[in-house]
Amino acid sequence: MYLTKEEEKMLDGEYGYPLEIAMKIVVSLGEIYGADSLIPIERGHVSGVSYKTMGDAPLEFLKSLSRSGVKVKVPTTLNPIGFDLNRWREMGIPSEFYRKQMEIVECYSNLGIDPTLTCTPYYLTEIKPGEDVAFAESSAVVYINSVLKARTNRLGGPAALASSMVGKVPRYGYHLDDNRRGEVLIEVKARLEDYSDFGVLGIFVGSVVGDKVPVISGIENSNEDELKQLSAGLGASGMTALFLKESEALWKDGKPEEKVEFDEEELRETYEKLNKTNEEPELVFFGCPHLSLKEIRELRRKMEGKKIRDGIEVWACTSRYVREIAKEDVEFLEKKGIKFFTDTCVVVTWLERMGYTNVMTNAAKSAYYIPHFCKSLPIIERTNRIIEKISTK
Ligand code: F3S
Repeated sequence: MYLTKEEEKMLDGEYGYPLEIAMKIVVSLGEIYGADSLIPIERGHVSGVSYKTMGDAPLEFLKSLSRSGVKVKVPTTLNPIGFDLNRWREMGIPSEFYRKQMEIVECYSNLGIDPTLTCTPYYLTEIKPGEDVAFAESSAVVYINSVLKARTNRLGGPAALASSMVGKVPRYGYHLDDNRRGEVLIEVKARLEDYSDFGVLGIFVGSVVGDKVPVISGIENSNEDELKQLSAGLGASGMTALFLKESEALWKDGKPEEKVEFDEEELRETYEKLNKTNEEPELVFFGCPHLSLKEIRELRRKMEGKKIRDGIEVWACTSRYVREIAKEDVEFLEKKGIKFFTDTCVVVTWLERMGYTNVMTNAAKSAYYIPHFCKSLPIIERTNRIIEKISTK
């Protein structure tokens, strides 16, 4: 792989050990995937921030990195942590976990990373079509590639951090036009009526295409929040980083190598696979990925003239940024009995310590992850059906 003189110097440790390590990670990735050079990036997004999923070992590494004085070279945002920064006591987070988690956030902040603590950084900052970026967090990767038309490979947290430190990524994968072409055609025959249906479609598509690029018919008029759910489901069950609408697709080999139908039966079967219990929900969760302003307003409309039934715990998660611009709507919904948490979500908080044995949600990605990360049983349901179940006049 070709490196400029400056890049060679970084790799040889002339700018210090932290940048040498970061460059080694970036160059190794490039060599593994056959990149010919490095390209500059506009921004980065780092995942793997929750102390629950990260543990102690990476913390020591992060501490020494943050003490070195090195800073990221491009604007970089951070994924959610294990609790709401302002409501951690109310969430029952032990002080020890709080302290460790805040050490992690401090380390990232010392590196110059903006502690946005959200998986939807694209609501805070404009990401332009064609921009090369370095993103971790699969739901955001698929969304910004497919909907916003930026370009990123699907990086792990350490690779995204290293790329932001270097300000460059290797030129391979989804940074290249040739790899942004369709391979498998997904013909959607099922009627998609709710966000949950789009997430479930994503789970199905991810599981059939693996790392190939799907072209999906029947989603031409879908809105950005629906496509956000599709992105999240696709990122959770598959390895691809991009989907295309049929109208915009160019094919890798001139035509689809395979066609797969998604009809009412596949929709129903995928719901059934995700649903792990028929019990009444103990916790209800909206906001995976973190809610947009529009989604919060829709929730408000659905809750007009209603309130949450006594004894039902309902969470909605969003970013601090969106919470602020939706302040009035959030206050309205909180009065109705919905708790708004920022900086976190059910998957990355210590749900298993809170005693919930099941969680109902309209988010397929959460339903997919809850059994693994939270030792809890998911129930996935359409939004209106959930509201019907948990509210009263
Ligand atoms: Fe975001 Fe948590 Fe879902 S980090 S994408 S809300 S699992």
